[in-house]
Amino acid sequence: MGETKKKRHRAQDSAGGTYDSKQMFPSGASALRVDSATDLEKSAPALRQALLGWYGEQGRDLPWRRSRDPYAIWISEIMLQQTQVKTVLPYYQRWLTTFPTVVDLAKAEQQAVLKAWEGLGYYARARNLHKTAQVIVEQHGGVFPKDFEAAIALPGIGRTTAGGILSAAYNLPVAILDGNVKRVLARLVALPRPPAKAMDQLWRLSEQILDPQQPRDFNQAIMDLGATLCTRHRPACLLCPWQTHCTAYRQNLQSQLPMSETRAPLPHKHIGVAVIYGSDGRILIDRRKQEGLLGGLWEFPGGKIEPNETVEACVQREIKEELNIEIAVNDRLITVSHAYSHFKVTLNVFNCTHLRGEPQPIECDEIKWVTLDEIDNYPFPKANSQIIDAIKQRA
Ligand code: ADE
Repeated sequence: MGETKKKRHRAQDSAGGTYDSKQMFPSGASALRVDSATDLEKSAPALRQALLGWYGEQGRDLPWRRSRDPYAIWISEIMLQQTQVKTVLPYYQRWLTTFPTVVDLAKAEQQAVLKAWEGLGYYARARNLHKTAQVIVEQHGGVFPKDFEAAIALPGIGRTTAGGILSAAYNLPVAILDGNVKRVLARLVALPRPPAKAMDQLWRLSEQILDPQQPRDFNQAIMDLGATLCTRHRPACLLCPWQTHCTAYRQNLQSQLPMSETRAPLPHKHIGVAVIYGSDGRILIDRRKQEGLLGGLWEFPGGKIEPNETVEACVQREIKEELNIEIAVNDRLITVSHAYSHFKVTLNVFNCTHLRGEPQPIECDEIKWVTLDEIDNYPFPKANSQIIDAIKQRA
């Protein structure tokens, strides 16, 4: 196909500008040198050897790598989804103390599971861990399945997580493709489109390159390469075991790759929140419905501010709609902003006093009046810890 007929891809670079794949890859097919199956087949043994040698010397000593317990490895892989190692470390250690085996997890209360996850985010992961523990106990004799199809049928286990677990726990040759691995492979072959648009190609690459003799170490090593050297910004190419094989490096494109998708800005939600004091000084909290964002977690009641509505009017309206009670909206306690993966939120928190009516759980699963000492026993979304601290300071 002639160069002029080739589809051009525009994308945002890390500084926010755009670039054009035609300019980046003027020689067309040469950008994909390592990407042909035969080419990769030839270089795969050298790539594996270089990576495993580097990993032996420079690989990170992480607690789940010392374990061969499929349960502990499964927990680590779920915690590590979209979350950095340094954030996961204390949670992982605490989790294994609280729920040392899959049976302990299966029989725990959901509230205890969410409490142990509190602050890690993406709470569907915790709810799925709990469900999956029950499935493993009931249908797999209490042992994480070795079979790939059985593994990806479990709640919360996708293709890359299954690969991570099966390779680490059982040394099975199952490929992975998490964010770090996508970046490494996209640079290795100088992928001329955003990774999200080339998932089949990247999966094939990951499968072809995986060391069939040492899949456990290979997968851990390629993740480490992405996390420590082949970083998004300022990759340390001079230290990289794949430097001489890397098409991006040879073409000096490492800081422009991988290409990124242009993303729409995140929507911003403005929420009115009520800290409602009862006549005995206790505070009203509610448990969110299981479905949807932050499902099963506790919160202070409230809702979205409508156009042309004051925060005070919003709080009063939401509390009437959601709990069917009358309140007085007093002074502002705190304003908290938080960024979730798909939107930003500002919580406008007001101190309120309960006036009339027995609260009803109309829009939630449960409501409770709690003292400040009791509140710490309930799992809340992260943004709420600032609200709780503010309440305590004022008390
Ligand atoms: N991210 C996902 N799995 C990981 C692992 N086993 N070690 C480090 N980071 C990871």
